[in-house]
Amino acid sequence: MIGKLNHVAIAVPDLEAAAAQYRDTLGAEVGPPQDEPDHGVTVVFITLPNTKIELLYPLGDNSPIAGFLEKNPSGGIHHICYEVEDITAAALKLTTAGARVLGDGNPKIGAHGKPVLFLHPKDFNGTLVELEEV
Ligand code: CO
Repeated sequence: MIGKLNHVAIAVPDLEAAAAQYRDTLGAEVGPPQDEPDHGVTVVFITLPNTKIELLYPLGDNSPIAGFLEKNPSGGIHHICYEVEDITAAALKLTTAGARVLGDGNPKIGAHGKPVLFLHPKDFNGTLVELEEV
């Protein structure tokens, strides 16, 4: 059911420093910061030959990233995102198998303008999993 690894998201305590490290030290293609108020994050997209990295930084008062950074002050991998062809069918299959979809259970429009949903980390070996319809 799952296809390509779409991205790995890393929460960072200093977005400018992290972007500069990927651009200048690791030599990656690093985009400009983008505010995603619906998701409570500012994102920097890094394009690699086979996938993307997303640097996440809290935006606003109720950012889902703020608590993560409190527990992981030097930053850390926040989630991984797999591509699926039909997110509604994927959600149905997963919930039927007992997995929990976060939020109200319905896909939301994600940072790339496509439907996404998140699966409970306790159901996936301690890893927050995002599915994105492509
Ligand atoms: Co993501």
